[in-house]
Amino acid sequence: MNEQYDWSVVEKNILITGSSRGIGFHAALDLAKKGAHVIIVSHNIEHCKNAVTSIRDKAGESSARYYVVDLSVQDEIHHLASTVLEDYDRLDVLINNVAGWFPKYEESEDGIEMNLALNHLSYFLLTGLLFDRIMASSPARIINVSSDAHRQVKGIRFDDIQFNTKYQAYPAYAQSKLANIMFTYELARRLEGTDVTANALHPGLVGTDLYRRYGFLSPILKSIFQIVGKSPEQGAETPVYLASSPELSDVNGKYFVDKKEKRSSEASYDREAAQRLWEISEEMTDFTYLV
Ligand SMILES: NC(=O)c1ccc[n+]([C@@H]2O[C@H](COP(=O)([O-])OP(=O)(O)OC[C@H]3O[C@@H](n4cnc5c(N)ncnc54)[C@H](OP(=O)(O)O)[C@@H]3O)[C@@H](O)[C@H]2O)c1
Repeated sequence: MNEQYDWSVVEKNILITGSSRGIGFHAALDLAKKGAHVIIVSHNIEHCKNAVTSIRDKAGESSARYYVVDLSVQDEIHHLASTVLEDYDRLDVLINNVAGWFPKYEESEDGIEMNLALNHLSYFLLTGLLFDRIMASSPARIINVSSDAHRQVKGIRFDDIQFNTKYQAYPAYAQSKLANIMFTYELARRLEGTDVTANALHPGLVGTDLYRRYGFLSPILKSIFQIVGKSPEQGAETPVYLASSPELSDVNGKYFVDKKEKRSSEASYDREAAQRLWEISEEMTDFTYLV
């Protein structure tokens, strides 16, 4: 168990992936308003510029900057990490938030199925590449944005992890969100006794552009989810809570919904599967850490 320590995000450096729009953007805006310096990472330069302009308008000139990166591409993640390490002496909070929803089978530039490449392996690799800097900045926090959709699969399909035999959008997305939680729990076990914590969360059902690949249906889905679920501002509340709350200083390896600790699916607590997923992630990224 870690020691209790005072925690505030004022002047903390916080990197959030997938933060030019949606939940990630609103988390960045809220944290900047609380006094943090936020690092926006996303793949569309116009969206990044708009995000940073909007945050600086509301939280001050030095509150935000951006890096344009396709987080499904491992070389780009390596380049991002080395630039961040050059530009920042400290990294206090890493929020792995980026994800996509892929109605049809797609592969990344590295030839990896997209749910796995973007929604899981980007979390694993970026955390690993920034890990020493995060440790050196401790107390520090790693936060992984998952989803309650993880409950829709019974486990990781180790015999066909990339859905090569028969692609199904929802199970493939759900598996990547289960992987986010298993990665968090395994990371948390390896972090025990340090002042760095790792926690995961479900932001709620949120009206965002997550379903952009459905074309003309996309804005309709977004509006429906905003009506039956949450606005992106509300969806940002749990990640902001995990990043900023002083009372969470010794909370490690938990899953949060609506700012409350909640039990995740039974499959997510399978330690053997989590270790196996870690090893596969090492192989697929050709990167090893926290052995
Ligand atoms: N929305 C929901 O109902 C919901 C529910 C449960 C969990 N979640 C989780 O919440 C997180 C955020 O989702 P969201 O709804 O806010 O999604 P979103 O509105 O689609 O936002 C995703 C962000 O990631 C960026 N992005 C997408 N692909 C990228 C890539 N290849 N490289 C770099 N950046 C990329 C997007 O940039 P562009 O906009 O420029 O493409 C955008 O800034 C995800 O982890 C998701 O699984 C969402």
